[in-house]
Amino acid sequence: MADPTENTMTSVPRKRAPAHQSTTLGNHKLHPSTMMMGYGFDPALSEGSLKPPIFLTSTFVFESAADGKRFFEGITGVRPGGAEGLVYSRFNGPDQEILEDRLALWEEAEDALVFSSGMSAIATVFFALVRPGDVIVHSAPLYAATETLIGRILGRMGVTFLDFPAGATREEIEAVIARAKAQGRVAAIYLESPANPTNALVDVEAVRDARAAVLGDAGDLPPIIIDNTFLGPLWAQPLRNGADLVVYSLTKYVGGHSDLVAGAVLGSKAAINPVRMTRNTIGTITDPHTAWMLLRSLETLELRMERAGSNAKVVCDFLSEHPKVERVGYLGFLDPGSRQHDIFTRHCAGAGSTFSVLVKGGEAEAFQLLDHLKLVKLAVSLGGTESLASHPAAMTHLSVAPARKAELGITDNLVRVSIGVEHPDDLIADFAQALAAV
Ligand SMILES: Cc1ncc(COP(=O)(O)O)c(C=O)c1O
Repeated sequence: MADPTENTMTSVPRKRAPAHQSTTLGNHKLHPSTMMMGYGFDPALSEGSLKPPIFLTSTFVFESAADGKRFFEGITGVRPGGAEGLVYSRFNGPDQEILEDRLALWEEAEDALVFSSGMSAIATVFFALVRPGDVIVHSAPLYAATETLIGRILGRMGVTFLDFPAGATREEIEAVIARAKAQGRVAAIYLESPANPTNALVDVEAVRDARAAVLGDAGDLPPIIIDNTFLGPLWAQPLRNGADLVVYSLTKYVGGHSDLVAGAVLGSKAAINPVRMTRNTIGTITDPHTAWMLLRSLETLELRMERAGSNAKVVCDFLSEHPKVERVGYLGFLDPGSRQHDIFTRHCAGAGSTFSVLVKGGEAEAFQLLDHLKLVKLAVSLGGTESLASHPAAMTHLSVAPARKAELGITDNLVRVSIGVEHPDDLIADFAQALAAV
C-alpha cells in the first residue's frame, strides 16, 4: 500500500526554494537589510521575475482534494501554524507571505502577520484575546484610536481596563496588575513605547517581571503586547525585552513614503496562532498591492531610518539652542541618571526621528511656526521620507479632556515633528526662517 505521508509530502506545492530562505552564507550570518532584497522569493517559480509579481487573485487552485483538506486544517486552526499552501486571498497570498517572512527577520520573530492598517492589527489582536468580564492592563497614554478601541468599543462588550503611566516602576506596575487580577481575568497587558505624543518610554523588562510576580511565570499568562511603531524595527526590538507580541502601524517608518496604510503583528508561533485564526475569520489581512509596496519599502528601510535618525539629531541640536524654543522633547536628550534614560539604554538602539518642540508662548506661537514652515509639511502622521509637523492639542488629541491633556503634557505650545530624509542643512534653514517669523 502506498504510504499516505509520502503521497501528501510530494503534492505540497513548493512556494519557495530553500536557498531563498537562508539567513546565512556559509558560516556568515546575513543582516536583515541584505535579506530584504531576496528572502522568501524564488524567481524560478515566477518566470524568472527578479521581483515578486503582484498576485491579483481571489483564490488558489489545489493540486488535489487532499491538499485542500490539509490547507484548510491550517487555516481553521485545527492544525496550528497556518496553512501549508495558498487557499483564498482573505487568508493568505504570496506577496503577503513574503512580506511576513521578511518583516519577522528584523526582530528575529518566529512568525508575523500583516494587516490592512495598524488599527486593524491591534483590533484583531484584542478580538483574539478578550471575552466579556476580562480586564486589560495598559500603559498610558496610548494612540487615541487604541484608547477608543479599549475604552469604548471593547468597553461595550463588557471588557474593562486599568492603566499605569509609561515610565512606571516595577512596583507600580505590579500594583496595577494585582488590582486588575482582583477585578477579573487579565486578558492582555498592552504597551505603547514611546507613547504618542509624549515620547515616554515603557520599561518592558519591568512589566515582564511584574507580570511574573503577580500572575506567576508559567501557564496561561496574559501576553505582553507592545506597539513598536515609533522606534521599530531598527531602534527598538521589544521581543528581546520580554514582549510576546509586537504590533506595528506599517503606515509609518516601515511603509516610509506616506503612500499606504497597513499594519503587522510579530511574535512567537504560539502567540501568533490565535491572532491568525481571528484574522482569517474577519479578513483584516492587507491586500497584495499594498504588500508589494511594503516589500519595496523594506529594501530601503535601514537607509531611510538611519538618515532620518541622524537628521533628527542635527535638527534637535539646532532647535534646542534656539532662543524662541523653550524645550525639545527628544529621546536623545534624556537626562543621564533619570529613569527614562535608564530604560532608553536598556531598550533602544537609537533616538528615532519623531519629537516635540515646545515654542516659547502658546497656541498662537505654535501655529505661527507651523504656518511658516515651507519644506516641512503641516500634516499628522510620521515616519515618511518627508518631514512633517503638527499640533497635537488642536489636532490628533483635540478630543482629549483638558485635565488629561495637562496631565500628559500636551500643551498648547507643543509642536510634534517627524523628520524625514531631506538634506539636514535644508531642514535647519526651514526651521530657522519659520522661527524668525514667530
Ligand atoms: C503609535 C501608533 N499606533 C497605531 C497607529 C494606527 O495606525 P494606522 O493609522 O496604520 O491604523 C498609529 C497611527 O498614527 C500610531 O501612531
